[in-house]
Amino acid sequence: MSIVKEIYNTTPKQIVDSLKRRLGGTEEGGLSPRETRMKLKRLKQELLKRFKRYNTNNLKDIDGNDFRTFIDSEIDHIDSAIEGYSPEELDRQRDLSVKFHWGHNHDFGDFSIKGRMGNRHINVFANFLSYFPITIESFEDKQVFDIGCWTGGTTLLLDSLGANVFAIEEVKKYSRMVEFLIKSFGLEESSTVRPLSLYSCNSDEFKNRFDIVSFPGVIYHLSDPVLALRILYNSLRADGIVLIESAGINVDDSLCKFEGPLFRLDRTRIIGGGKKENLNRGGWNWFLPSPSALSRMMKEAGFDHIQTNWDYRRGRLYGYGKKSTQVGICKAGLSVQDID
Ligand SMILES: C[S@@+](CC[C@H](N)C(=O)[O-])C[C@H]1O[C@@H](n2cnc3c(N)ncnc32)[C@H](O)[C@@H]1O
Repeated sequence: MSIVKEIYNTTPKQIVDSLKRRLGGTEEGGLSPRETRMKLKRLKQELLKRFKRYNTNNLKDIDGNDFRTFIDSEIDHIDSAIEGYSPEELDRQRDLSVKFHWGHNHDFGDFSIKGRMGNRHINVFANFLSYFPITIESFEDKQVFDIGCWTGGTTLLLDSLGANVFAIEEVKKYSRMVEFLIKSFGLEESSTVRPLSLYSCNSDEFKNRFDIVSFPGVIYHLSDPVLALRILYNSLRADGIVLIESAGINVDDSLCKFEGPLFRLDRTRIIGGGKKENLNRGGWNWFLPSPSALSRMMKEAGFDHIQTNWDYRRGRLYGYGKKSTQVGICKAGLSVQDID
């Protein structure tokens, strides 16, 4: 996190909490801070090792030069038409949906690409494995719904854990890249991607289908997080779990901070970085929940065994929940009335 962003986002309470944690005591699971750091380090090493298989030595039916040429041709390419934006609405659209930016760091062996999110895919999954009652083996042979996969770091990582992955991405240009990667590495048997918003996954095709919903980095980009959680809840089989990671606010009360996409548009630089003229500004967030707010939203959506956790190192929020059995949702005021 940049220093400006860190100061902007840190309350006095968070500073005190963080100091208390650094001065000793145990974290969740009874581990000391040092043991937690060592555990995380080992998990990251293991995940990175698995991800490394996606290199040019392991391409299927495509020459290394052709592989690189296609990727290079997409990076920095500006295309609003493919996303269906009309010229009149273009100035309100997210920079990263209009211009192609690579998501997660990827060392392809012959060449490597720095992603805007760095090694986020590795770090976030290491945190999931460290905070919640799951192991690397929990993904083996499971049906996993990967929400908002960007250029596919999460999709490939989940595939490397032995999962059958169904990924969705609302930005068509990114979904097309993930489709290309899946084909290039011969993963068509185990992984699929579709250019879909999660809000279009409220049909029978998606109901009771998945064992795990992987939902990092998306919920704060959504205008209706409760509806999103309900759609994902319905997509799970009984005993299925959801893994959530999000921007958030670290306060005790059940609160959400409303930003709205215009928050970034009005500030051309500073927060989130990037410049309008480079079409590389971050942001376009709607609601940033506190741990308690996320927990309550998950409960309303039907989840139980809920855990939420604040990651002090990166200032992010994590959530875990289970669908033990199908329960109803309150229909009063719900934005989609005919949802299960
Ligand atoms: C911050 S990135 C997170 C990428 C990846 N999930 C991760 O955790 O590293 C958010 C991604 O979610 C996608 N996204 C946002 N809203 C979505 C929606 N309603 N349905 C599907 N994808 C969405 C964005 O286009 C973007 O690629």
